Amino acid sequence: MPDGEVLLDVSGLSVRFPTSDGVVNAVDDLSFQVRRGETFGIVGESGSGKSVTNLALLGLLNRRAANIEGTALFKGRDLLTMPPGELRRIRGKEIAMIFQDPFACLHPMYRVGDQLVEAIRAHERVPRRQAAERAIEVLAAVGIPKPRERFRDYPHQYSGGMRQRAMIAMALLLNPDVLIADEPTTALDVTVQAQILELIDRVKKEFDIAVVLITHDLGVVAEVAQTVMVMYAGRAMEQGPRQQVFGKPLHPYTWGLLESIPHVDQKVSRLVPIEGAPPSLIFVPPGCPFHPRCPHRFGPCDQKRPEFRDRGGGHAEACHLSADEKRTLWAERQERFTRAAV
Ligand SMILES: Nc1ncnc2c1ncn2[C@@H]1O[C@H](COP(=O)(O)OP(=O)(O)O)[C@@H](O)[C@H]1O
Ligand SMILES: [Mg+2]
Repeated sequence: MPDGEVLLDVSGLSVRFPTSDGVVNAVDDLSFQVRRGETFGIVGESGSGKSVTNLALLGLLNRRAANIEGTALFKGRDLLTMPPGELRRIRGKEIAMIFQDPFACLHPMYRVGDQLVEAIRAHERVPRRQAAERAIEVLAAVGIPKPRERFRDYPHQYSGGMRQRAMIAMALLLNPDVLIADEPTTALDVTVQAQILELIDRVKKEFDIAVVLITHDLGVVAEVAQTVMVMYAGRAMEQGPRQQVFGKPLHPYTWGLLESIPHVDQKVSRLVPIEGAPPSLIFVPPGCPFHPRCPHRFGPCDQKRPEFRDRGGGHAEACHLSADEKRTLWAERQERFTRAAV
């Protein structure tokens, strides 16, 4: 278990959007903690509520359109109820964010350096020259070659990977405590993706921050996260230290995800997708939301909502199967899976 200071303490977070088609239950009763020094990975298929979780934490959801419950303490202060002005001061400075699309952060019409300088001066009273020096330092820290020259470039003069680096530089400029990255590598090819993940891991250590990494790609969290939360239909299905979640996964949804990604360390070439598709969040199945797709469903699964409980060592999950049944089933699945591959 990571033992750094708790920076984010989310408890009972729910987000609902009333729409003309019905209420969208985008996030349903999430609780998790993120500590300094760790990368906290949030993973799940598209439409499972990952981005809405992120936007709720950043105060970027329209309060008139979204019904938000729960608490999200950042260093003890609740992000969900603090005045907008205070939240704006925290966002971008103490909690920084990066997205899939660097142009969400970088304006195409301004030089990269000028944007970095403006970002510093929006939060701090420092002379332009000093801000420029800091910006160049951070560009160097994120691996932009010849940062003093590239400082004068426009974003389109950077390659895709470099733009992603520049966006990370922008996020790190004001020495944040938390970096939230929503699908930061999804648009990149595999080589660049690996470089950016490595960079995120390195800056996490160098800047001594916490990273919340949101992705649909289990391979990505496997590579860099210390703690993993698996989401489905707006809920946490399983959560725990990476070694536990990947080594001794407890939830059938996690099993399905693991069988549907390529393993670099195994000779498994046959991938088995999870049958069916995630539900509409307006009509979430009763009981366990995964039950219609779960090959192991039984009695209570379509009626009773399984409790999300710690099964020891910070490894928590929500499934009605007993620990013994899970051990047996997972062992059987692994054997079948490996056999099918040779
Ligand atoms: N402003 C909104 N109004 C209504 N529904 C929304 C809104 N924003 C997101 N949703 C719905 O919330 C669900 C979760 O979305 P999202 O968090 O973006 O999923 P993910 O990031 O895991 O792919 C989706 O069904 C999406 O359509
Ligand atoms: Mg998303």
